[in-house]
Amino acid sequence: MESRRVYLLLPSTQSGDFETYSYFGQDQENVNKVSFPINSMLTRSMKYQDNTIDVNDIDYIPSLSAVNVEDRRILTNNGIELLVPLRSKELLTGILLLAHKTSGESYSMEDRQLLNTISNQAAVSIENARLYDQLQQQLIRSSKLASLGELATNVAHEVNNSLQSVINYGTILYEDLADDNPLREDAKIIESEAIRARNIVEILLGIARKERTTRETVDLNDVVKSVVTLARLRAKSENILVQENYSLEAPMVKANAEQLRQVFLNLFTNATDAMPQGGKIDVSTTIANKNVIFTVTDTGMGIPQNAIEKIFDPLYTTKINGTGLGLTVSRSIVEEHGGTIEVESEENKGTTFTIRLPRV
Ligand SMILES: Nc1ncnc2c1ncn2[C@@H]1O[C@H](COP(=O)(O)OP(=O)(O)OP(=O)(O)O)[C@@H](O)[C@H]1O
Ligand SMILES: [Mg+2]
Repeated sequence: MESRRVYLLLPSTQSGDFETYSYFGQDQENVNKVSFPINSMLTRSMKYQDNTIDVNDIDYIPSLSAVNVEDRRILTNNGIELLVPLRSKELLTGILLLAHKTSGESYSMEDRQLLNTISNQAAVSIENARLYDQLQQQLIRSSKLASLGELATNVAHEVNNSLQSVINYGTILYEDLADDNPLREDAKIIESEAIRARNIVEILLGIARKERTTRETVDLNDVVKSVVTLARLRAKSENILVQENYSLEAPMVKANAEQLRQVFLNLFTNATDAMPQGGKIDVSTTIANKNVIFTVTDTGMGIPQNAIEKIFDPLYTTKINGTGLGLTVSRSIVEEHGGTIEVESEENKGTTFTIRLPRV
């Protein structure tokens, strides 16, 4: 049609604003990117337009007459003559903007009819492309999860055999050492940590098999304390101060204590990992109404805003030796217990994880 410029605007995946997705025409080099906010009158009323709109008719179309000065200024500044809504099934999938013709003539009736015809097909194609993209993302996610399940099942058997030996020899060592032998405590840690590792493997298998574990009424303070005792060892050697703040009344929850230990230990490990230069970890438990709240706050490197939504994804890690399963497993355990896990973080300031569990 020999338009001077043609803009294809598509909704941005982040904000939903209609932004220039592709451009054709003069000044290919320094394109003035056109965009309209998702809630502007223009994008809102384009949803209800079936046909190509001439910019000069805007004032005569009732649903468009509310288009504000800012939107009009964008249209005028870019010499836009025609607006073509791209609609598929009541959905505005895009907007095509055509500037004046190079010849200076205005668009003919045939031109407009042609635009009306292709606009529908274009809308359907765009919508299909978007769905395809979404599906592909879903497939990537589920294939990651599927391979995770497969991997866990294959490795678990082998790892469990080795861990069983560590547990057995740890127990023998512990029992062989005299009561007053200072190494006795170390042997106990070898045994209990190996048991914990075996349980982790079993929980991973549990994810694959969706297995349930037994629950008892436990005092959350006791669970946290046992983890802090263990975590302190590493924290101390890395110049990290651990401060504990427990609720006065016992925060009772119906839970599998071993699974909760695993969750807390992962949060501690993450907090410690986030402070290679040392720092402080604050742990607290509180009772609020029907919930028991556990928080762990560190003064570490924090999590960039764009990574926050990924940290619970399986296999997402920023660590050389990380598996990226810690938070995935933690969230799945917390949710299985009817609770929630939330994160708040500021870069170079620190991070807080909050877990809420139903109180009994
Ligand atoms: N307290 C924290 N401070 C800064 N970043 C964190 C913190 N906790 C988690 N993260 C980020 O989230 C990512 C995922 O954590 P997650 O516990 O799931 O896996 P990981 O610690 O990397 O490996 P692992 O499976 O061994 O736990 C980390 O690699 C890190 O980038
Ligand atoms: Mg971790």
